[in-house]
Amino acid sequence: MIAARTDLVHFNWASAGLPLRPVIDRIIEHLEREAVDGAMEAGRAVAVELEAVYASAARLLGCAPDEVAMMESHTRAWQAAFAGFRFGPGDRILTARSEWAGNYAALLRAAEQAGATVDVVPSDDSGQVSVPALEAMLDHRVKLIALTWLPANGGLINPAAAVGRVARSAEIPYLLDAAQALGQLPTNVAELGCDVLTGPGRKFLRGPRGTGLLYVRRGFLERLTPPPLDHVSAPRRADGRFVQRLDTRRYEAGECSVALRLGFGVALDHALALGLPALRTRIAATAAQLRAQLAAIPGLVVRDLGIERSGLVSFTLDGVACDHVRTALAAQRINVAVNGIAYTPLDMAARGLDEIVRASVHVDTTDQDLARLVHALRALAG
Ligand SMILES: Cc1ncc(COP(=O)(O)O)c(C=O)c1O
Repeated sequence: MIAARTDLVHFNWASAGLPLRPVIDRIIEHLEREAVDGAMEAGRAVAVELEAVYASAARLLGCAPDEVAMMESHTRAWQAAFAGFRFGPGDRILTARSEWAGNYAALLRAAEQAGATVDVVPSDDSGQVSVPALEAMLDHRVKLIALTWLPANGGLINPAAAVGRVARSAEIPYLLDAAQALGQLPTNVAELGCDVLTGPGRKFLRGPRGTGLLYVRRGFLERLTPPPLDHVSAPRRADGRFVQRLDTRRYEAGECSVALRLGFGVALDHALALGLPALRTRIAATAAQLRAQLAAIPGLVVRDLGIERSGLVSFTLDGVACDHVRTALAAQRINVAVNGIAYTPLDMAARGLDEIVRASVHVDTTDQDLARLVHALRALAG
């Protein structure tokens, strides 16, 4: 076993959280059981525990367990649902400046193929998506609103619930990317008013890589073109017909990593036990503290937008390339990320930025961690 390196300071929760020890233990235990008992037999033995993972996910999202599918990543979840939308000539898809590049690429491709357009809702002066501008852009041709709740390139929190109210009253489908929100913000799909919500296990939830969640609202499922069938998503009935499941699990394939799902379940339960309001309060307070300390460093510009802010803290350092900042910090065992135009192209272009350094915090982040980062950045700033 690799011993925990206590000298590491992790400011890269927004890329991948440090998985909790019980998460890793549960995964390893199950893999060992597979080797001893046989993988299918080991899987059957944990059937009840696997069901409980859906119940935990449902508690996290405020929905019913059968409205959730277990996926391999945020992207797989998002793509699976998005593939069910059909667009025609003249249709419009609305998105916002903070849209994740992967989603945006898929929106553009779908629009191009259908003769539809992707229209970007402007941001207001604070940087968040403008809800009045969204309302003004609605017409009968708008077939989807796709929003990234928390962008990857900074602390902005988009008013996802306000967007949801607009989408609901106009009866327009609403697809919400919650990749950076799960595990750091209380999340309730009814309050958000979304039809589809997606997120990964590995970021603020501290689950393993290779896990993700897909929520599709029960009444909305039938409006999406069904995903490809297999013998699990469409079980064979006595009359010989394969009939697709009537719940969100129709998006799952028969084969999966049971060990990762069990580990993800442990991570979900841990977040639920801490409580999302408590996680939110603590993460926001630590991020605010970090922003204040960074702002005092000469030549450092904090780049976060928005009114409400998350645990993602973004900045640039005058005259120092972001990648140099990252590698110099990594040499001191301090993990940060560089987020470039490749990930949030619309927002970075609108702000004339190529890249930013991103330091993201979690409840484990201590005052000493902040001090180490700030000290190292002061030295780099010269
Ligand atoms: C806002 C946002 N959406 C989507 C993704 C992609 O998630 P995944 O890598 O789990 O597919 C990320 C990853 O950083 C992200 O920040």
